Amino acid sequence: MTLKPGTPESTFRPDLLAGKHALITGGGSGINLGIAQSFAAHGCAVTILGRNLEKAQRAAQGIVDAGGRALGVSADVRDFAAMQAAAAQAAQELGDFDIVLAGAAGNFPAPVDGISPNGFKTVVDIDLNGTFNTVKACAPHLRTPGGNILSISAYGVAVPMQAHVVAAKAGVDRLTETLAVEWGVRGIRVNAIIPGPIDGTEGMARLAPDEKSRKRVEEGVPLGRLGVAQDIANAALFLVSDAASYVTGVILNVDGGQNLLGGAPQYQMYLAMQAQQNRAE
Ligand code: COA
Repeated sequence: MTLKPGTPESTFRPDLLAGKHALITGGGSGINLGIAQSFAAHGCAVTILGRNLEKAQRAAQGIVDAGGRALGVSADVRDFAAMQAAAAQAAQELGDFDIVLAGAAGNFPAPVDGISPNGFKTVVDIDLNGTFNTVKACAPHLRTPGGNILSISAYGVAVPMQAHVVAAKAGVDRLTETLAVEWGVRGIRVNAIIPGPIDGTEGMARLAPDEKSRKRVEEGVPLGRLGVAQDIANAALFLVSDAASYVTGVILNVDGGQNLLGGAPQYQMYLAMQAQQNRAE
């Protein structure tokens, strides 16, 4: 596992989430897998839900091999009936959920001119409707009081080439806040994390495929470095733990301060790409 409890790598006590069960959508890779691994390393049973059953099961097996408790299940977050079935299966096998993490996302870099109505709809369906479907399908199995919902959002500012994503994630943010208000009385906390550029993810590979563009991304982060999956896992551990028992409706930036610059760094990259394109034509 990437995050070992009781070592300097983990700030949190080893049994922080002992006896709990988390369902994590999109948990087969990247940031969500990092969160799944660190939850498991802190005693949490984890259900990894993904479109691809084999990938979800492989990720779950990795956690089991490292001494954790995990299950891989398959469903597309766009398919509410499939989400209901997967949530019921997970709850039956590992118990009701203490934590539901809506992490599944779809993305491709494209300017508005290059996005078809179906392309836009596809990302809204995965990111926004998928988050709603996740929450709604898992709600009957969510421990009340004491349950936690956590969504992985993005940006929070205007970002060129990402109109579909920023529009969908703005919806996720407002859904997070509204759910926090509606379900607060049931003792359920609802929060979201906005990750910055995280090293080793599919998104970063697309955004910064070479050393030059990687350097440019780093320069757009006040803390001067790319994040690592553990940075996001640490924030997630905090938000779902009792240390955050009075925290709800928060959209937490975990991005080295990148949001403080608005979308300016991404805009500079966009201008550079446009200039390169114009030179090539
Ligand atoms: N630029 C512009 N449009 C694109 C595109 C790109 N790079 N990639 C896909 N699209 C469009 C397609 O052309 C299609 O629209 P059309 O029918 O008008 O042609 C639409 O998006 C749906 O594409 P499709 O491949 O059929 O959808 P899918 O459901 O199989 O895949 C995606 C969904 C497009 C989001 C795909 O990138 C995906 O599965 N991503 C999951 C992983 C991921 O994005 N991880 C990063 C998370 S940050």
